[in-house]
Amino acid sequence: MRKTIVAGNWKMNTTPSKGVELAKAISEKISKSGLKENSGMLIAPPFTHLSEVSKVIDTNLICLAAQNCATELSGAYTGEVSVEMLKEIGVKAVILGHSERRSYYKEDNATLNKKAKLVLENGLKPVFCCGELLEERNANKHFDVVGTQLKEGIFDISAEDFANVIIAYEPVWAIGTGVVATAEQAQEMHAYIRKIIAENYNEEVAENTTILYGGSCKPSNAAELFANKDVDGGLIGGASLKADDFMGIYEAV
Ligand code: PGA
Repeated sequence: MRKTIVAGNWKMNTTPSKGVELAKAISEKISKSGLKENSGMLIAPPFTHLSEVSKVIDTNLICLAAQNCATELSGAYTGEVSVEMLKEIGVKAVILGHSERRSYYKEDNATLNKKAKLVLENGLKPVFCCGELLEERNANKHFDVVGTQLKEGIFDISAEDFANVIIAYEPVWAIGTGVVATAEQAQEMHAYIRKIIAENYNEEVAENTTILYGGSCKPSNAAELFANKDVDGGLIGGASLKADDFMGIYEAV
């Protein structure tokens, strides 16, 4: 049975000291309540925080993730951080293909494909993001856009490797806007994603894949979104920066 997951994408927020406080607060809360059966929690602080955060969280309960990684393992790539470096400090997953990386830093499907393979080869899990722009949804192209992102970005890996991939559907128009996809819109796209996973691999792989929803998810709307049969939790931005809100969302999963 696939796992439900609530993941926090901190983006470029908090200083290292504030981030450690936030991570400690989340870890204390989840240590008290424990994880629900067949569910997981993940946090993705900025690079500068990861080493310290890994020391203050209960890593049996919280999966530590990075928000990006380089396309290469080492060498003359000024400003980049490689998956080997992340692995050594206790990072277990890497968010890839977030729409902010795609739009501001021009990361295309080929680049993301390279990163995803490196992440998997190094034994980490990619949290592979996809999602359409508002114009694309309005033009009824949202299924094609998401399908292409997945086909070009991640569908050429083996079924064995795909078992370590988490998919996050994040409609760009819902990210940080306060406009959340309706439960029907989320379910419809998640069902589509699961269908194309089944076509590319098989039913079993599709059934076992965790597909997260992201975009203005908060404690007040999480339960309605997560109640859908193909929505297996959330990738949370703004609301992951407050321990109580993040826990409130986890309670809904
Ligand atoms: P948001 O961001 O929850 O602030 O909308 C979600 C994301 O970008 O992962």
